[in-house]
Amino acid sequence: MIFNIAVLPGDGIGPEVIEQSVRVCDAVAKIFNHKINWNYGLVGASAIEKKGDPYPKETHRICEDSDAILFGAIGDPKFDNDPSLKIRPEQGLLEMRKKLGLYANVRPTFTFPSLINKSPLKKEIIKGTDLIFLRELTGGIYFGKRGRLDNGNTAYDTCIYSREEIVRLVKMGFELAEKRSKKLCCVDKANVLESSRLWRETVQSMEKDYPKVLVSYEFVDAVAMRLIQWPKNYDVLVTENLFGDILTDEASVITGSMGLMPSASIGNKNSLYEPIHGSFPQAAKKNIANPLATILSAAMMFEMSFGLKNESEIIKITVDKSLKNEIVTEDLSGEKGRKFSTSEVGDFLVKEILSSKI
Ligand code: IPM
Ligand code: MN
Repeated sequence: MIFNIAVLPGDGIGPEVIEQSVRVCDAVAKIFNHKINWNYGLVGASAIEKKGDPYPKETHRICEDSDAILFGAIGDPKFDNDPSLKIRPEQGLLEMRKKLGLYANVRPTFTFPSLINKSPLKKEIIKGTDLIFLRELTGGIYFGKRGRLDNGNTAYDTCIYSREEIVRLVKMGFELAEKRSKKLCCVDKANVLESSRLWRETVQSMEKDYPKVLVSYEFVDAVAMRLIQWPKNYDVLVTENLFGDILTDEASVITGSMGLMPSASIGNKNSLYEPIHGSFPQAAKKNIANPLATILSAAMMFEMSFGLKNESEIIKITVDKSLKNEIVTEDLSGEKGRKFSTSEVGDFLVKEILSSKI
């Protein structure tokens, strides 16, 4: 098959981790006889510098014309501490999500047996965790009306959801739960927020269509606590934009390394794949960043956008091998272990994939 993939390396460590992910995808394409055309686009701080726009039109066109999008990271400390700035890298990300209609952010949380000791949480609590967050990504307080009143001394942000927006995300949650452990948790704050009451009401009205799925309704504050106390009790969790943002960062602690967690943002037409870690500017251009989350995001791309399970599987198996053999970057190598560079980890994976028998 031939694929057109948009690549948006972005800022900070984005370009370095993306480079290794592209190499890994090319290796997979080679052994399975696919051809990938990579189309590069600017996004984030680097796009502001070159085009004065964090999500230029040209980048949007490249994304729209692609079969899938591979994304690095955005954000630059230059833009962080000046509240008066009108253009920020993060706006590019939000605009891209909205314009491409990437309404469902899929964030899996699972543990790697060889990394179980990296998590600050107790082994017995986290071992065997396998849950998926479905975070609504194009609505809620991120996109509601906001502004200032009272000469700038009062500020407001609005959380707004339509039933339709909730249904399309939750439907995906039910379908996923049916294929997994058949448990769905609706995370909300229905004891306080009207928008949460609509979420809960909507999920309740959909229950009858999925009789095999057991649904629980939990408040977001309680989930924040239970998630790290009993992560194994959860299977699929559906939630609105901001709650999902916060809880998925929390969930990454379970895995022991943010450097490993991939994600997918599903849209009607195209979908985007990105690591959940940020641009980590302190590590940029040093060839030390962990490329595995971006590489595992590419594995999600093969499976979710192209329906290619074997291609996805070979990436996951090879990443597992690199962890077991401790061919890892310094965030995972520990005191005594050898610190491999970003590109050396890529070298190992590419070599393993090219020499594997399929
Ligand atoms: C994420 C990030 C973004 C978000 C920021 C960079 C706007 O934290 O993808 O989780 O809040 O959605
Ligand atoms: Mn976040």
